[in-house]
Amino acid sequence: MKKATIETTDPTLFGEAPARDERFCEKSQWVDCMNFPEDHPLKLLEFFHRQMNEEMNGVENAAQSLADFPSAEWEVRMCIARQCSDEARHVQMLRRIFENRGGKIGEFPVLNFQYRIIANLRELVSRLAVQNRSFEASGIDAVSFAIDDARENGDQELVELFEMQQADEITHVRFANEYIRDCIHKNPRVALQVARALTRASTAFMQVMGEEGTANVEYLVDERGRLEAGFAPEEVRVAFAQATNRRASHRAS
Ligand SMILES: [Fe+2]
Ligand SMILES: [Fe+2]
Repeated sequence: MKKATIETTDPTLFGEAPARDERFCEKSQWVDCMNFPEDHPLKLLEFFHRQMNEEMNGVENAAQSLADFPSAEWEVRMCIARQCSDEARHVQMLRRIFENRGGKIGEFPVLNFQYRIIANLRELVSRLAVQNRSFEASGIDAVSFAIDDARENGDQELVELFEMQQADEITHVRFANEYIRDCIHKNPRVALQVARALTRASTAFMQVMGEEGTANVEYLVDERGRLEAGFAPEEVRVAFAQATNRRASHRAS
């Protein structure tokens, strides 16, 4: 049974939606999307469409941060500008593979929770903590798993797409890790801002995904990818332990 959409979400955690043309149908919860079972013939096609839109959220969030924080340090603004370009390339790569395999833009509903959650945060350091250090770091884990899966299925085109994407995402997480660490070093109170932003984002994320949307996450943590992305070994160990516990508790329930 579908859950009611509006009543279960706290509107203060979400900002405005990004602009989309009339081809797109935006949903606010995971349960209202087309969540095909693993063996469904449209599973992969729907994934390309969803991922393409998520990458679009990545472009929009990065561009919004450039527009909202014009006096941030030049180095971090340059990294964010490069990120805009990378994410735009990811949108194009996913659009190409989606259309080449028979997809039609807008044929599946999309979620825009990343933009709504992240652009709603007031400080640049909080946005980078949520977008890059949290959502995109989970993306590194997910893409590593997807590369293995594509390789097992003999889908070389997809292996190459994911490998290119993965290399870029690691750089996005790394510059955010460095910037956040530097900000906290200069002003330890920033750690509290970051913690508050992460708590709000994780509450909002759970309101979008629900138990159903996170129950079947099979991948754990790409330890090598996370170390390359600038996480400390201890942080990687904690992330790995959390992911293992989460998976074990879902399997037990
Ligand atoms: Fe991306
Ligand atoms: Fe990224």
